[in-house]
Amino acid sequence: MKILISAAIAALLTTTAFTSAAATVDVTPLPAHITDASGEMIITPATTLVIEAPKDDAERLRRYIDTEWRHFPASAAKNTSRIQLRTVGHIDGVDSPEGYRLSVTPDATIIEATSGAGLFYGLQTLIQLADGTDTITAVDITDSPRFGYRGMMLDISRHYRDKKFILKQIDALARLKINRLHLHLTDAAGWRIEIKRYPRLTEYAAWRPELTWKEWTDGGARYAEATDFNAHGGFLTQDDAREIVRYAADRYITVIPEIEMPSHSEELTATFPEISCTHNPKGEPDVCVGNEQTFEILQNILDEVMDIFPSEYIHIGGDEASKKAWKECDLCHQRMTQEGLKDVDQLQSYLIHRIEQYLNSKGRSLIGWDEIMEGGLAPNATVMSWRGTEGGIKAARSGHQAVMSPGGYCYLDSYQDAPATQPVAISGYLPLQRVYSYDPAPDSLGIDVTRWITGIQGNLWTEYVPTAQHAEYMLWPRMIAIAEIGWTPQALRSWESFRPRALKVADHMQSDGYTVFDLRGEAGNRRQSTRPAEHLAKGKKVTYNVPWWSNYNAAGEATLTDGLRGGWSYGDGRWQGFLHRGDQRVDVTIDLEKPTDITYVGADFMQITGPGVWFPAKVEISVSDDGKNFTTLTTIEHKQKDSTGLSFKEFSWSGTARARYVRYCATSTEGCQFTDEIIIR
Ligand code: ACM
Ligand code: ZN
Repeated sequence: MKILISAAIAALLTTTAFTSAAATVDVTPLPAHITDASGEMIITPATTLVIEAPKDDAERLRRYIDTEWRHFPASAAKNTSRIQLRTVGHIDGVDSPEGYRLSVTPDATIIEATSGAGLFYGLQTLIQLADGTDTITAVDITDSPRFGYRGMMLDISRHYRDKKFILKQIDALARLKINRLHLHLTDAAGWRIEIKRYPRLTEYAAWRPELTWKEWTDGGARYAEATDFNAHGGFLTQDDAREIVRYAADRYITVIPEIEMPSHSEELTATFPEISCTHNPKGEPDVCVGNEQTFEILQNILDEVMDIFPSEYIHIGGDEASKKAWKECDLCHQRMTQEGLKDVDQLQSYLIHRIEQYLNSKGRSLIGWDEIMEGGLAPNATVMSWRGTEGGIKAARSGHQAVMSPGGYCYLDSYQDAPATQPVAISGYLPLQRVYSYDPAPDSLGIDVTRWITGIQGNLWTEYVPTAQHAEYMLWPRMIAIAEIGWTPQALRSWESFRPRALKVADHMQSDGYTVFDLRGEAGNRRQSTRPAEHLAKGKKVTYNVPWWSNYNAAGEATLTDGLRGGWSYGDGRWQGFLHRGDQRVDVTIDLEKPTDITYVGADFMQITGPGVWFPAKVEISVSDDGKNFTTLTTIEHKQKDSTGLSFKEFSWSGTARARYVRYCATSTEGCQFTDEIIIR
């Protein structure tokens, strides 16, 4: 253990019961208030364990200590050192029931909390302080979490992960004081929870002929019978799920089930074609909101789900509904007329409201992805913000709880290092440091907003994550950063303090048999993005002959000549998007302000076809003296080809020319294009 404490702060401590001073211990997430003390406690074979807590908590804690830390003798020998855990009515300076006070002196280690969860978190801190030894340096810690919701989501639909895998991750989450595990149980790629009333869901829609999600979608996204010789997939039986819930509860983690609706529901509508608008037996993404049978089936499913999962929150998805079939469906039209709904957004909102009422009537609360706000948010709903932070902030402003999980910081399916060094990922670039840099509730939002932001969640979607080992590799160490963001006061967080502690946790996890990304071997961001580019067009005005795509503004009209090159992610604010929709293309003119000798004009493009980012099909570079009459320097034809992973390509001209205006035009017949800078030399 290491205590860093400056003399000035030490002087301060003599007059303060506890402080948020810069004292630090080798504990992750870093505790809120630490003061050092003198001496150390040695655990000996005679050291006793005393737990004074309600029976359930006491049994849980004793069992956990026995199996996960070390065995202490049951009977108390007189005059020996002791470790004591006790629940108390109140702790000075701690409001959260998850907070605790931990005091280590040579004779005794005492953990006090107002709940079993608080004792459990104090215990986690103690276990880290002991760090596998018999010596605990004296310290006094008063600690409580910044957020009440500290979560991880695991998608077990795209690639099924079994009970054993989930229990193993729960072990790691518990050590980091994470308190929610959100299981994405249903999606097009497979239904993963046994529903006794509807066995077809797991006899059929939990299986597919292809092993991987990519092969499955490429192969037409069909389901298989469980008994087929080539069936791949699986599901949690209700017994499995109950065991997971119990195991998590023993570690003070609540398991939140997600049942997707009204979209991402192909496996449901393939099993029950009658509840899609088209009755297509292959399955439709959206359920029919006009059909009463849809509600009957969803509510019957939710009944069984609520019986298995005691979680207050039930996640109902709500994201990315296409809403297309609703526009052509008589039943959906009827529903809209009857209910006075003016558009399909309100039709979605009708379903969410009705499901919320149902959940509320059973004493549960609805949580969903931020699209549940479209058409009007249900009155008691909590929003999980994934399309950036705007959804969560908007929900918070209107007095709804929000859990922040923005893609740019919390989507753990993004590359965590230079893509060429990594297994193929969906897209993006999210190294540990960027995850750690996220603040879910910055003071700048104001207290009226931040008080509604109840937490943070890291999400592992698994379209491109086919194996258990690969899933662990994507989770760790990035979930360590999510844990510290969720727990530690913002003012105490620093990358310099966090990185060595994260390395230590990662090393421990590796020796415990987890597959963990090697932080020491990190290659880092795209070289071009790490220093400014110097060239003739830098700072010069760009005229957009067609506008860029407003979803990816980057730095607006400065983007292509600001000298700032993009990194590995098209979402990093340096790549500008151009959506192929009719005549949308890259078409810009740069004014060099005076006739200039030039030898090179070029731009880099990015391709990652999974999310629809393509190299251009044709690039034309031309020059002009008056900005009206252009002479073509080169036309580059490029055969567009699907590819795996992320790649970059330069489309350029080299030669000699003299001109004031340079026009760069790139067209595509696929998806969208991204470029970061037009370089002229
Ligand atoms: C999501 O990523 N569609 C919630
Ligand atoms: Zn319909």
